Amino acid sequence: MEFSNLLTTLEGGIYTITINRPDKLNALNQVTLKEIKAAFEHVVANSEIKGVIVTGSGAKSFVAGADISEFTGLDSAGGKGFAASGQAIFKMIELCPKPVIAAVNGFALGGGCELAMACHMRIASENAKFGQPEVSLGLIPGYGGTQRLTMHIGRGRATELLMTGDIVNAQDAYRVGLCNYLVKPEELIPKCTEILNRIFTKAPFAVAEIVQCVDAHYADGVDGYKYEVDSFGRCCGTDDFKEGASAFLAKRKPEFTGK
Ligand code: COA
Repeated sequence: MEFSNLLTTLEGGIYTITINRPDKLNALNQVTLKEIKAAFEHVVANSEIKGVIVTGSGAKSFVAGADISEFTGLDSAGGKGFAASGQAIFKMIELCPKPVIAAVNGFALGGGCELAMACHMRIASENAKFGQPEVSLGLIPGYGGTQRLTMHIGRGRATELLMTGDIVNAQDAYRVGLCNYLVKPEELIPKCTEILNRIFTKAPFAVAEIVQCVDAHYADGVDGYKYEVDSFGRCCGTDDFKEGASAFLAKRKPEFTGK
C-alpha cells in the first residue's frame, strides 16, 4: 500500500509502520491518522502480516503529538468529533488481533504518547521522552490518554503527569512501567523484532484471544473472568490447541496453523 505520510515495509511477517513527517516531528495530522487506520485495516486483512512495529521517522521523534496547527479553530462540537474519531482509530490498534509494538525512538508527546499506549507493548530507546503536555495548551488528551496512562502507571502518577504536563525521560518511563524495555537506539528495532519472532512461534488464535481478554479487564460492564472462561473454551476448540498439546507430549515443536 502507498501512503503519503507513512513508510511501510513487510519483512519476515513484520509490518513496520513509520510515521513520516520528520520536519514536523511526525505530528499526527488528519491525513496521517486516516492512513494509520488504513494501515491497520491492511494488517488485519493480510495473512502475510503476523505482527506490527510502529515507529517514527528520524532520530528525534516518535510522534510529537496531534498536529496543533489543525485544531486551533475547534469549537466544543468540533472538539468532540476530533477526539472521538482519533479514539476510534487508537481503539482499533489496541484491539488488533496481531501483536503491535511501539518502538519509541524519541518524543512521544500528546497523541504520540497516546499512540504508543494504544500499542500492545512499548520498547523505548534511551533518548525517548514521554508526556501528555496538552494542559499547557488549555486542553486534555483526547485520544484516550487520560484512560490509558492511568491504566499503565496508576492513578497518582498519571494525574501528576496530566496536570503538570511534565515530560519524563525514558529511564523514568521505564521505572513506572510505561515501557517494557529500555534499549540503546540501535537495539530498538532488533528488540521489537526479537519479541515478535518469539510470539510468532505461538498459536495465532490464542494470541488474538489474549488481546481481547486483556481488553476485557478494562471494558465497561464486561466480566473479564467470564470473558476468559469463554475465550479458553474457544481456544480448546481449535486445531492449534490439539497440535500444541500433542507436540508437548511427543516432545516436539508445535506447528501452528492459526486454525
Ligand atoms: N503539532 C504541529 N507541529 C509540531 C508539533 C505538533 N504537535 N510538534 C512539533 N511540531 C513542529 C514545530 O512547529 C516545528 O515546525 P517548524 O519547523 O515548521 O516551525 C517542527 O515541528 C520542529 O519542532 P521544534 O519545536 O522546532 O523542535 P524543538 O526540538 O525545539 O522542540 C518539542 C521539540 C517536541 C519539545 C516541541 O516541538 C513541542 O513542544 N511540540 C509540541 C508538543 C505538544 O504539545 N504535543 C501535544 C499536542 S496536543
